[in-house]
Amino acid sequence: MLCASKAASLRAVAALRARPSATSSLSFSTSRAIRNRNVNVPPDGPFGVARALQASSTEPPESTLFAREFSLADRVALVSGAHRGIALEMALAFAEAGARAVYCVDLPKTPDENWVKVREYARALAAAGKTGGGEARLEYVCADVRDQDGMWKVGKTIGDREGRMDVFDVNVNGTLFTAQAAGQQMERFGTGGSIILIASISGHGANKGYPWMSYNTSKSAVLQMARSMACELGAKGIRVNSISPGSIGTTWVLTSYLLAYYITPALPDFKPSVSPRTLSMMSSNSHPAPPGPPPTVPSVLLPELLGFIPQFLLDDIINIANDEARQSVDAMEQFLQRWADARADKPPTSSSSTKDKDADWDPTQEIEQGLVAFQTLLESHVDVAFDFFEAWSMRNIFAVPADLPIVAPHQAGLDLAGAADQPERESELLAEIDELRRKVHAQRKLKRLFTRAVRKSAKDLEHSRTRLDRLAFLRAPQIHALHALPDELQAMYTSVSALPPVDELDPGSAAPTTEPGKRPWETSKTGYLNWAVGQLMERAKEKARDEQVGEDGAAFAEGSAEVGAAVSAAYGVGRAEDLKAVLESVGGDTGKGKDAERMDTRPG
Ligand SMILES: NC(=O)c1ccc[n+]([C@@H]2O[C@H](COP(=O)([O-])OP(=O)(O)OC[C@H]3O[C@@H](n4cnc5c(N)ncnc54)[C@H](O)[C@@H]3O)[C@@H](O)[C@H]2O)c1
Repeated sequence: MLCASKAASLRAVAALRARPSATSSLSFSTSRAIRNRNVNVPPDGPFGVARALQASSTEPPESTLFAREFSLADRVALVSGAHRGIALEMALAFAEAGARAVYCVDLPKTPDENWVKVREYARALAAAGKTGGGEARLEYVCADVRDQDGMWKVGKTIGDREGRMDVFDVNVNGTLFTAQAAGQQMERFGTGGSIILIASISGHGANKGYPWMSYNTSKSAVLQMARSMACELGAKGIRVNSISPGSIGTTWVLTSYLLAYYITPALPDFKPSVSPRTLSMMSSNSHPAPPGPPPTVPSVLLPELLGFIPQFLLDDIINIANDEARQSVDAMEQFLQRWADARADKPPTSSSSTKDKDADWDPTQEIEQGLVAFQTLLESHVDVAFDFFEAWSMRNIFAVPADLPIVAPHQAGLDLAGAADQPERESELLAEIDELRRKVHAQRKLKRLFTRAVRKSAKDLEHSRTRLDRLAFLRAPQIHALHALPDELQAMYTSVSALPPVDELDPGSAAPTTEPGKRPWETSKTGYLNWAVGQLMERAKEKARDEQVGEDGAAFAEGSAEVGAAVSAAYGVGRAEDLKAVLESVGGDTGKGKDAERMDTRPG
């Protein structure tokens, strides 16, 4: 099960615990549905070994399998691995069907309490006449099926003691040795017999997600061994069949792969298995079934139909539902975003109150908050529903026994029992939830701010690009010529500034000279320079006037305004400071002005 929230898990499990009747009523309706289809099944469980383990000494023992349909009266069976699991179930089934003796071969030196209980139950069944007259004796033999000599000896001992050998079954290793041990005795007494090899659905295909190559390969070998052995021994009246169980909740399955999923604190031994009828049909080669309704045995097991272990189906269903939920939230987000964009693009309405509202409206925030709330609600409902679904399926479809608590991985470690009695623990949890909420809120806020900042940057970039487009004319080649101008003006300004200070003895002014009797250019060096510049400028002006009037009288007036102004200014230059004033007026006064000019005209 995926990602159920802690709260959802708590609620689901609490609800499961609070409503035990829900499970039993579902279980009842399943049984009724089977009965309505006229399938001939024994009364509601427990069956077989489970019934034997629960039986009390005061209640009469009850045959729960097929005492009526099949008879193995007086047969002798050898069942390997029958200390527990499927094999012990088979051993009891043979006993119920009237076998004289069933030899259970397994590794432990002595059988455990459960095995002894099953043996006593079989004995009581026989005593109560519920085994069709069969002695129903369970015998325990400690042996390792991988030991060929040892197994052959076991077979011989049984043969010597019972004078026959009729049914044999093995688990994984030692299949061949045990089959040989049984087959030798069957041949020895010439009475034929039945050998059942336990293969597996895993021998027919691989198990995706599980590293079971050796197991699968060994089970494929068992299937092939059964076919070959059947061909070889058929002529001697010995039938050989194989069974391919699907997933059955034995100790092995519960402790290995199923438990990797569902952590269980306590493990009782084997619980009801499937198709004991199939076993019995295979075993009773010569004894006709007593009159009665014919048994109906499903010919195909669910794992064979599915091609994988059925528990995985739960995960698949849950994953699909979670994916659908996520996709629907994504789709809703896209729809709301489109809707918000369309609304933002609409021209504002005339009413001022609506206008104000629209201006304040933050669709991002509203959509985010709404979606988070919706997703949380949806996921918590999906989680609760699938916690129920999963627990119900484990109990009713996969028949996990009622006394085995089901704890889904995401619920492992939760103290569900203690929470209700410990108010301080509850307030701690609530405080923790509040803290988590605060963090989620802060996270959302941060995300909102980030989204807003990203949008603002995008807008600024757009604005800058527009401005740049407007100033694109500055990239024209003639503008580049202007760039050199401020530098030249600055150079001129620097030269002019380096000139000596202006002398107060201005040749053009009416002020008296400091040295009466002397001409202005005779008073000082500055006086001379001022006088000389004045003379030169005067001559230049006269020359220019003569040339322009002579060549083209209108040309002077036809010049551009700028050129006219510059020329007039030039006519006004009579002294060094006049030149300085002209330069300042065209903008070459400071370095700062020049930089500003450069900045404005720089291409982007
Ligand atoms: N349980 C399932 O879902 C399932 C599915 C397909 C096939 N199978 C097959 O059914 C058979 C029984 O499975 P199970 O679930 O009852 O297993 P299990 O582990 O509950 O029982 C197996 C028994 O075999 C005994 N054993 C092991 N090695 C032995 C040896 N070398 N000599 C003698 N005894 C030995 C064990 O002590 C144990 O009592 C196995 O062959 C298994 O591969 C089981």
